[in-house]
Amino acid sequence: MNILIMGPPGAGKGTQAEVIVNELGVPHISTGDAFRLAMKLGTPIGIKAKEYIDRGDLVPDDITIGIVEERLQQADCKKGFLLDGFPRTLAQAEALDQILGRLGMSLDHVVDLKVDRDRLLARITGRRICKTCGATYHLVFNPPKVEGICDKDGGELYQRADDNEESVATRLDEYSNKTAPLLSFYENKDLLRQIDGEQDIHQVSEDLVSLLRG
Ligand code: AP5
Ligand code: MG
Ligand code: ZN
Repeated sequence: MNILIMGPPGAGKGTQAEVIVNELGVPHISTGDAFRLAMKLGTPIGIKAKEYIDRGDLVPDDITIGIVEERLQQADCKKGFLLDGFPRTLAQAEALDQILGRLGMSLDHVVDLKVDRDRLLARITGRRICKTCGATYHLVFNPPKVEGICDKDGGELYQRADDNEESVATRLDEYSNKTAPLLSFYENKDLLRQIDGEQDIHQVSEDLVSLLRG
């Protein structure tokens, strides 16, 4: 099953991706996670991406498309994949169609997590992530059992550098201007399905899994 999960910053893409990956056993391909790993390792792509990500701007298409193209060619994607945070521009969406076409694959589902803009800031500024396994928590909406510590592996929780009000405002504008238009791109292909992302985390997961299992 080849799935694309869409939604504005803080909508819950990464949170729901953890659930889908457990349920369906497909690899999770997140361009945001890939860039954060590259930044941590200090690779040339990481150094280049950092200047954009810290401001909340989108990383240029050529860099981003290259990462996804390389990842989709790996053997584990033959059984399906879950794309999170890519594509975010029309050029990326068209490139994805071409890449999948070359690999003899296509998208089965495009799911949009619908969340109103004024809820997103609270979700993003309260987010905490495990340094060890990348699991996502929220100070209020999904707190760990012990403050500052991951439930799964005892890893330390941290806050993303771009989860500050200034970068978030830019990220939301980038989403409205460049990414939201993709919804009609996928609607025209009759692939788009909406999920109410304002429900609690478990209800969103239930809706999502039943939609995907069809
Ligand atoms: P990326 O890492 O993808 O960030 P994003 O799109 O801004 O999305 P987030 O990860 O912030 O939100 P999410 O939807 O995953 O929410 P989450 O589940 O964590 O990208 C970062 C940057 O990389 C971009 O700004 C850009 O610079 C660059 N980049 C990445 N891809 C790119 C591309 N294709 N092209 C160009 N540049 C690219 O949830 C958020 C919080 O809310 C968590 O604390 C969670 O616990 C909580 N929460 C989740 N669901 C619920 C719920 N139902 N109710 C209450 N709380 C909830
Ligand atoms: Mg995410
Ligand atoms: Zn962890």
